[in-house]
Amino acid sequence: MQLKIYKDYQSLSDAAATEITELVKNKPNAVICLASGETPRLTCKLLVEKVKKEKVDLSHITFIGLDEWVGIPPDNDGSCHYFFQNEIFKPLHFSASQTNLFDAMSGNLEEECKKIDSIIVENGGIDLMLVGIGMNGHIGFNEPGVSFDYYAHVIDLDDTTVSVGQKYFKTTATLKEGITLGLKHLQESKKVLLLANGAKKAGVIKKTVEGEITNEFPASIMQTHPNGFVMIDKEAAALLENK
Ligand code: PGA
Repeated sequence: MQLKIYKDYQSLSDAAATEITELVKNKPNAVICLASGETPRLTCKLLVEKVKKEKVDLSHITFIGLDEWVGIPPDNDGSCHYFFQNEIFKPLHFSASQTNLFDAMSGNLEEECKKIDSIIVENGGIDLMLVGIGMNGHIGFNEPGVSFDYYAHVIDLDDTTVSVGQKYFKTTATLKEGITLGLKHLQESKKVLLLANGAKKAGVIKKTVEGEITNEFPASIMQTHPNGFVMIDKEAAALLENK
């Protein structure tokens, strides 16, 4: 794992967007997994700008969504579906056949997990996974205590995830379960970028980078990834001893 500290959120997001465009220039049929949420929002905006300016062809990539709130419909603007549709798919004219998101309204969520697991395998594995980090150290909905060995799965949400998650919704949402890629996917991804910005993430970044590697703090798995990059701004780096 490598640590990269940027002067601010803008330069961090710019670097992350560049990682994606450079990957696709070298591998037009790359498999890319992105997280939704506040952290990657600017990365997505800058990605759209770069792709248009540099005329990068994304029509051959396979897009995988990291996770979704179980029972939240895709037209709810707090859903991950809504985020990806509006931040990426519509502005970049992605075709439905290249976008793969969990259907969290499905009556058979186990089947949804199998479907996404198979798509990843059939397309040769994830080339780049870009994730954020929750206030409890989760990645996607890999909540504290989750096995490092899971692929896609359905999981009960941690109390922190349920309360912090309300920030995405205009009215109180009932959040109980999540459907998510697993940490085995993260371990097998050819490259992983974990992004964090702002002072509120300084504590979880310290645990991620300098804490014990434990499934009680899932993001600590980043320390074991040979091609993992923790990309943060100065504020999120504030508590690190070695920087
Ligand atoms: P955020 O979410 O980017 O909205 O802070 C991070 C997460 O919970 O994974």
